[in-house]
Amino acid sequence: MVIMKTSSEFLSTAIEAASQVGTRLQEMLGESRASKGVTTKRNPADLVTQADRMTEDHIVRLLRERFPNHGVVAEEGTSHPGGDYRWIIDPIDGTTNFAYGVPLFAVSIALEHKGDLIAGVVYHPSMDELFAAERGHGAFLRRNGHEKTLRVSDQATVADSVVATGLPYAIRETGHNIPEIERLMRTAIEVRIIGTAALNLAYVAAGRMGAFWEPGLNAWDIAAGALLVQEAGGRISDTQGRPFHVDCRDVLATNGRVHNEMVRLLGAA
Ligand code: IPD
Ligand code: CA
Ligand code: CA
Repeated sequence: MVIMKTSSEFLSTAIEAASQVGTRLQEMLGESRASKGVTTKRNPADLVTQADRMTEDHIVRLLRERFPNHGVVAEEGTSHPGGDYRWIIDPIDGTTNFAYGVPLFAVSIALEHKGDLIAGVVYHPSMDELFAAERGHGAFLRRNGHEKTLRVSDQATVADSVVATGLPYAIRETGHNIPEIERLMRTAIEVRIIGTAALNLAYVAAGRMGAFWEPGLNAWDIAAGALLVQEAGGRISDTQGRPFHVDCRDVLATNGRVHNEMVRLLGAA
């Protein structure tokens, strides 16, 4: 058993917040869509539930109590300016799964300092798997009271890798990502579409997936997962291989070894 280096109060507070809301979300998972209060946002496929807002409020309240001078941005509309520190929160990543009772959703909480990600937590309540990272201290998985250092996979080719992607909500109008998915289906062992970007990134960090890409993501989908991948020895960039930034939207995360091949495959699609 590896002792997790929850050295900073920042990471331990993020873990505390994610664990609290995760337990409640797991209890709600089996309830009907009506009792979850499901409505739509930008288009009919873009869902939100009362649980998204409740979860966001709970996390933000806890963080603001502990760190009143920190800024916050969260998917369901919370925005507080701050000084050098900014929390980036996705209260439920995988809302469609959550709304339909599919146990594949995660809580994602990250902290930036002067524009650099320094702490991140992705919590998957249905498996009670908590993925966490701190800049310079590695990435860890906590499950059943045990902690394990995360390390990306060692596959050297895409043909040897399971890769994951996501479907942008506007895919019906834009068709974005369909040619790339076809290309990867013809190359990788398999292409997984599990409906949560944060968990996909955690799985790249854990060596379960060789690569994950998705166009059109937002900072809250990727901030915590990006740090997990980097701290587990992987690589993250935009889909053209240019340097990563939380606002870069079209994201590619890999074990490092298959990165250039993925950039080439996506570019050729
Ligand atoms: C979505 C999930 C999904 C991805 C979408 C995201 P949400 O986040 O990460 O996997 O394909 O692009 O917007 O709306 O469930 O928080
Ligand atoms: Ca999300
Ligand atoms: Ca969300």
